[in-house]
Amino acid sequence: MRIAATLKLPGPAWDELPEVAVLDVWPPPERLPGVQALIAAVTRIGAEELDLLPDLRLVANYGVGYDSVDVAACRERGVSVTNTPGVLDAAVADLTLALILACRRHLATSDRFVREGRWRRGWARPELLGHDLAGSTLGVVGMGRIGSQVARRAEAFGMRVTHHGRSDGLPLDELLRTADVVSLHVPLTPETNGVISRERLALLGDGATLVNTARGAIVDEKALVDELVSGRISAGLDVFADEPHVPERLLGLPNVVLTPHIASATVETRAAMTRVLVDNVLAFVRGEPLLTPVA
Ligand code: 8YV
Repeated sequence: MRIAATLKLPGPAWDELPEVAVLDVWPPPERLPGVQALIAAVTRIGAEELDLLPDLRLVANYGVGYDSVDVAACRERGVSVTNTPGVLDAAVADLTLALILACRRHLATSDRFVREGRWRRGWARPELLGHDLAGSTLGVVGMGRIGSQVARRAEAFGMRVTHHGRSDGLPLDELLRTADVVSLHVPLTPETNGVISRERLALLGDGATLVNTARGAIVDEKALVDELVSGRISAGLDVFADEPHVPERLLGLPNVVLTPHIASATVETRAAMTRVLVDNVLAFVRGEPLLTPVA
């Protein structure tokens, strides 16, 4: 059984795997016959890539979101796909709250203010005046495992929580019109791609905050950048449409907090994600049912 990986993953569970060939580059420069299982982290796996691995039977995706894997192309070739659900909800919810707080309390701007030696009666500067979380409204788009954990944390801060789900909650447009903070927690699918369109962004109230720890392409990024440049809204963004590219126009703005896709990036959570992935690969090696298959 040959196993390849696009990256060595953190945590002790990794050592339980049989020998793994960690690839220097992805996609590989030439065909890799014989590789039956591929451990993939934040890499595009489409038909072209699959053609390079003619004997592949399993893609083990490191992450709950598997939008970078062409699941239909995998199915056609008889390749199973697994993800790592359930173990990163708390970490992602924590970072979501961190971004909400950072935006509502101008954390990044305040930090720069101190570092740049501009603290002269800074306590009274109007641009550093934030907004209370308590009494404000959070609109959660997608009340799944992660969205629910965000809601719990927000309630502990005294926020009122509304939500929009596929079959319940407020209509999306009403949520956008009425929330002080909107946080996205839906997977990237053909239905959610661009769902936060230019028209929908315009529904956000003046001074509202958009937080995205899900996937960049859920939002019309160009329209979002236009709104942020105008200064009408603020945003906390952990994800972008074309990572690691971050729109240049965002870099100098005070009303946006930028993080490099770190929502699940804690030692504990990444080790737990590795555990789930390794258990799937070991089940595959033993010919047992996969634990968390998505295809
Ligand atoms: C990344 C994530 O996958 O789980 C997801 O969907 O976006 C993250 O956890 C992680 O950065 C490792 O690839």
